Amino acid sequence: MKTLIIYKSVHHKNTEKVARAMAEVLGARLAQPEEVDPAALAEYDLIGFGSGIYFSRHHKTIRAFIDRLPAMSKDAFVFSTSGATGDHSGPLIAKLKGKGLNVKGTFACTGFDTFGPFRLIGGLQRGHPDEKDLADARAFANGLLKQAPEAQ
Ligand SMILES: Cc1cc2nc3c(=O)[nH]c(=O)nc-3n(C[C@H](O)[C@H](O)[C@H](O)COP(=O)(O)O)c2cc1C
Repeated sequence: MKTLIIYKSVHHKNTEKVARAMAEVLGARLAQPEEVDPAALAEYDLIGFGSGIYFSRHHKTIRAFIDRLPAMSKDAFVFSTSGATGDHSGPLIAKLKGKGLNVKGTFACTGFDTFGPFRLIGGLQRGHPDEKDLADARAFANGLLKQAPEAQ
């Protein structure tokens, strides 16, 4: 299953750790949105989209990349790291579905956050993503592999 993971990780490289863990399991190519020609997505079976959460949404470069995509029938997944617990994937899933992509799953974990006032208290979620978060990310990626057509 040829997989591409498009991610943006600007605050503390939290999401990059998750992206790399998933890429190892999936044998995926990792890329930044500005490195990917939307036409090149045609050669992939599965595309992951991930970033930190900024004001309750994925990073603007990920959102803008999806806005530029033509309609396509492709499998996708979404992941994120965030200062607050919970999965904030909803808006990105809606965007991907709007382009015809089939979102097979989402993964979210916390990430070290020193935004604004949180810096004054030493940050939130120090040490995250930690080893358990990365093990969870690998397990999620393994689940995607098991869903792949050649695995059935
Ligand atoms: C400007 C800014 C806005 C943020 N907004 C949110 C937010 O709305 N909700 C949240 O849970 N975390 C928020 N965070 C925390 C980041 O999502 C978190 O630290 C994430 O792990 C960063 O990922 P990265 O290091 O891969 O960029 C914000 C961080 C910054 C710098």
